[in-house]
Amino acid sequence: MSQTDVLHGSRIVPVVVLDDASFAPDLADALTAGGIPCAEITLRTPAALDAIRAIAGRSDFTVGAGTVTTAAQVDAAVDAGATYLVSPGFDDAVAERAAARGVTFIPGVATATEIQRAIAAGLDRLKLFPADAIGGPAAIRAFGGPFPQVRFLPSGGVSATNAAEYLSLGNVFAVSGSWMLPSAALAAKDAGTVRALAASASAAVLA
Ligand code: 3PG
Repeated sequence: MSQTDVLHGSRIVPVVVLDDASFAPDLADALTAGGIPCAEITLRTPAALDAIRAIAGRSDFTVGAGTVTTAAQVDAAVDAGATYLVSPGFDDAVAERAAARGVTFIPGVATATEIQRAIAAGLDRLKLFPADAIGGPAAIRAFGGPFPQVRFLPSGGVSATNAAEYLSLGNVFAVSGSWMLPSAALAAKDAGTVRALAASASAAVLA
């Protein structure tokens, strides 16, 4: 499955830190209604795997697992129903386990050396993290010279202000981050607010 397929065609991937798995179905509904039919649920909370399980297998929405840093987490996330995995960095054991499980894996990279390691592992759809801190769109343009086959998912410091600029680059397949879902909005578990925030983020990147 290609990266755009696993993202259900979305060019925005919300990075979600969820404390209450019971909100996950409403969250997925609200994101979809706001024009963002995917999410990356980070494995940073005890609720994460239950949240993935609660929204896996939908035909209108795809759920991935984020902050996957160990091979054991690859198994746990895939068993919970995640259709893609995202890491903040590159780790051979995680890449090998993801390949063995047949799941789309988007590792994080921040340097040319890490990009080369990812390419050697057979991966060319890579999260650039922390995108803004390491040079933003200028860094992505520069990496496009030696690595024309790579497509990036910038994350870290992406915002409503700069998302459209990132997405205008030919070697960016989507942007991700938490800007469209502030932790207060998630904590309030207000689906209407999430829907409005998603709609506004979608509009900002299409503008
Ligand atoms: C992350 O994994 O935390 C993301 O890259 C989100 O970064 P952001 O909070 O700066 O958007």
